[in-house]
Amino acid sequence: MDRLVIRGGVPLQGEVRISGSKNAVLPAMAAALLAPGESRVRNVPNLMDVRTMVRLLEHMGVVASIEGDVVRLDAGPAANPEAPYELVKTMRASFFVLGPLLARYKRARVSLPGGCAIGARPVNLHLVGLQAMGAEIDLMQGYVEARADKLHGATIAFDQVTVGGTENVLMAATLAAGTTVIENAAAEPEVEELARLLNRMGARVRGAGTRRIVIEGVGELSPFDHAVIPDRIEAGTFLAAAVATRGDVVLVGAALEHLEAVVRKFREMGAIVDPVASGLRVRAPQRLEAVDVSTAPYPGFPTDMQAQIMACLALARGRGLVTETIFENRYMHVFELVRLGADIAVDGRVAMVRGGEALDGAPVMATDLRASASLVVAGLAARGTTEVRRVYHIDRGYERIENKLLGLGARIERVHADGE
Ligand code: UD1
Repeated sequence: MDRLVIRGGVPLQGEVRISGSKNAVLPAMAAALLAPGESRVRNVPNLMDVRTMVRLLEHMGVVASIEGDVVRLDAGPAANPEAPYELVKTMRASFFVLGPLLARYKRARVSLPGGCAIGARPVNLHLVGLQAMGAEIDLMQGYVEARADKLHGATIAFDQVTVGGTENVLMAATLAAGTTVIENAAAEPEVEELARLLNRMGARVRGAGTRRIVIEGVGELSPFDHAVIPDRIEAGTFLAAAVATRGDVVLVGAALEHLEAVVRKFREMGAIVDPVASGLRVRAPQRLEAVDVSTAPYPGFPTDMQAQIMACLALARGRGLVTETIFENRYMHVFELVRLGADIAVDGRVAMVRGGEALDGAPVMATDLRASASLVVAGLAARGTTEVRRVYHIDRGYERIENKLLGLGARIERVHADGE
C-alpha cells in the first residue's frame, strides 16, 4: 500500500489544472448502457473509480477502452446485466447501472452496496423510484433483482435529496413510456450535466439543475460524444490547500458557478478568490478567521468539502462549528486531524473546531476519499513531516495528486511500501 510523505510548511504557488469531474464521469459511463453503438466520454480523469466502472461495464459485455482522457464504451444488444458484489462494494456509484440496465435490457441484478465508511448510505430511494415506474424488485442474497418489461412514467417525490437516486431514476425514465416527474430532485451540477448528456442522446429532459425534473420517455437513444465538466470538489480541495498553506494558486479550468458556496465560505475566512481568464486565483490572508459551516444539498456547501474546510478551520483564529447534515458518520478525519494537533470536539453531527497557530506533522491514516484529502491539506500546512497511509482512498478520486502538488512547489512524495 502506498503512502504520501509530506514535508509541510511550503506555501503553494503556481497553476494547477483541474481534471474532469469524477461524479459526472461515472453516471455518464453508466448512461452509455442506454444506447447501441460506441459512446465516448472525454476529459475523463485517470482515477481508480473510472477503472472500476470500466471493469464493471466489461463484466456486463460492454466493449470498453481508455485512451488518455477518452473512454469508449459500446453496449451491444445483449448484455449480462449483473453488477457483482466485488465491484459494487469498492464503489457505490456502481449502483448507477441499475436504472439504465432496467430501461434497456428489462432486467438487472445489482449487488447492494453494503456498509460504507461514511454512514449507512442506503439505496431505498433509488428502489422506490424505480418501483413507481413499474419495476418489480426483490432483494435476494444481498442483490437487488429487478425486472420490468416496460417501465412507465410516474411522479416520484423523494423524501430526501439524493444525487444517485435522482440520476438512476433520470436515466431509467429516458426510455420509459410516458412522462416522469422527479420532485425534490438533486440539483447538483453533475445531475444537470447528466441531463445535458442524455438530451444529446435524444432524451427529453427538462428542469435538471432545479428541484423538479420532467422527463418525457422516448423510443430509443443514440450514442454520445461528450466532454465532462471540471471537478468542483478537486478544485475546492486545491483551493483549501492554497488557503491552508498561505499560498497563491490559480485553479485552471475551475468553474466559479459550481463553487459559489465554497468560495463564499473561504472568502468569509479571509481568502481572496478572483476569477481570472484561465479559472480562479486563490490567495490567503496572513491569518484565517473561523467560520461556521453547515453542509447541504447543492447549491449549499458540499459535504464532499466538509473535511477539507475543517483542516483550514484548525488553522484559523477563533472557533468554528461544522454541521454535517447529509451523512450521519462523516467525521472519520477528525481523529486523524487531532493527531496533527487540531483541537476538535464532535457531538453528534456537530464538530467544534478551535483554531490554533499551527499543526504538527504525524503519521495518519486515510479512511475515505475526502477524509484523506483533508489530511493532505493539513499535512501540507503542518510543520514537519506527515505521512498519509492508505493512499488508495485518495487515488479513487484525485488524479495524480502528488504530481499536481509538486507542480505547486509542495514537498511531497509517494512511497511504495510492501507488506503494510
Ligand atoms: C453522491 C456523490 C457523493 C456525495 C453525495 C452527496 C457521486 C458518485 N457521489 O453520492 O460524492 O457525497 O452525493 O452530495 O455522485 N439516501 C438514502 N436513501 C437512498 C439514497 C440516499 O437514505 O436511497 C441518503 C444517504 O444515506 C445520504 C443522503 O441520502 O444521507 C444523500 O445521499 P446521496 O445524495 O444519494 O449520495 P450519493 O448519490 O451516494
